[in-house]
Amino acid sequence: MNIPFAESWKIKMVEPITKSTRNEREKWLKEAHYNVFQLESKKVYIDLLTDSGTGAMSDRQWAAMMLGDESYAGATSFFRMKETISTITGFKYVVPTHQGRAAENVLFSCLVKEGDVVPGNSHFDTTKGHIESRKAIAVDCTIAEARDTQLVIPFKGNMDIKMLEDCLMKNVDKIPFVLVTITNNTCGGQPVSLKNLKEVYAVSKKYNIPVLFDSARFAENAYFIKTREKGYENKTIKEICLEMFQYADGMTMSAKKDAQVNMGGFIATNLEDWYEQAKVKCIIYEGYITYGGLNGRDMNAIAVGLEENTEYENLETRIKQVAYLAQKLDEYGIPYQKPAGGHAIFVDAQKVLTRVPKEEFPAQTLTIELYLEAGIRGCEIGYILADRDPITRENRFGGMEFLRLAIPRRTYTNNHIDVVAAALKNLSDRSENITRGVKIVWEAPIMRHFTVKLERL
Ligand code: F0G
Repeated sequence: MNIPFAESWKIKMVEPITKSTRNEREKWLKEAHYNVFQLESKKVYIDLLTDSGTGAMSDRQWAAMMLGDESYAGATSFFRMKETISTITGFKYVVPTHQGRAAENVLFSCLVKEGDVVPGNSHFDTTKGHIESRKAIAVDCTIAEARDTQLVIPFKGNMDIKMLEDCLMKNVDKIPFVLVTITNNTCGGQPVSLKNLKEVYAVSKKYNIPVLFDSARFAENAYFIKTREKGYENKTIKEICLEMFQYADGMTMSAKKDAQVNMGGFIATNLEDWYEQAKVKCIIYEGYITYGGLNGRDMNAIAVGLEENTEYENLETRIKQVAYLAQKLDEYGIPYQKPAGGHAIFVDAQKVLTRVPKEEFPAQTLTIELYLEAGIRGCEIGYILADRDPITRENRFGGMEFLRLAIPRRTYTNNHIDVVAAALKNLSDRSENITRGVKIVWEAPIMRHFTVKLERL
């Protein structure tokens, strides 16, 4: 008999979670205006809202926390973190920030101005927010194949090089950098190949434009390169990371993902000019340049988390759990963005709730139904999150319409995953009876999904 695959860790500490009744959930969700961000976490049984800052740290990370140097300036914890980042990425300058969007805020404050254009592959919502709030334009150059959820290709997060070059040609004076998100979260946690990273870099250099990686899940991207891209099967994750970052001038990082901590972020670069500018903004927005909004202990945990998560076994455990959910959904015939991504399964809501019109937000409707069914919290990555067009103020119905089930790192067992799959199966069995969705009764002008108030139709 083949020995089955199992986790590369064992559990040392647990946190109780509680079930609720459907009646309770009906009441709670109504009070939350049908927005799952407004639910108290104790009212959630299995929380797949995000994989950001929600994972479990290792015993080695907790041990490193005790050794944190809390000095205001020159903390040894900063140098430990910086050293690890430089070894993994090859970037020599590091600016700490309290999370990923703070890194965006610091760097974009230096680089992005009104009228600028930032081409990228499905910019994440805060990233798009930081571009659009500066009255610049985010141009999505993700390959068209990414829109076909049933198409199985290995690197669905890739950038369309021709589209990118057209954008560069037309706007060359207005482009502060090209942004590559690895993995591509918004289109399904899909990886970008090393070949594509090389091509993006080459075309950007042709126009003398720097390349920035939004690197929240860079280690997961490296895992997919190792397991899917020819020529990389025998390289270590660390070798692949170093090679990936050769094709960037800098990175922003949400350490809440692939550095496996609950809070943290940073900017890293080899461009002295970016570093000098970012230092000034870091001091204004985040804190002195050797802590940038982080505790010394946080920086130690980031150093250990990065070290651990650039090892194959840790990534394999994680990504195989996501694949396990995918396999269950395949069994039950529930459509999702294929192949399974690195951090989450993105259920194709329009293909499940075929009778809910787009104006009534099928993905949000599915999110609501899943919570009511079993207390599972996913989140909408769709038309509500897409916000309105900044100029026409119309809803943007052009993109993808997903219910995202993000799996926190080292947190749930496959028994929990079985519960999620069964709940989705029940929903899919009665999807013909779900014909109406929701309407918006209040929304913020930007990043509305966090606070939007909805009514059921
Ligand atoms: N970039 C990407 C690709 C992200 O996925 C996120 C956050 C950020 C930047 C911002 O980082 O949260 O530390 O400020 N993504 C989380 C998510 C929130 O649920 O996907 P942050």
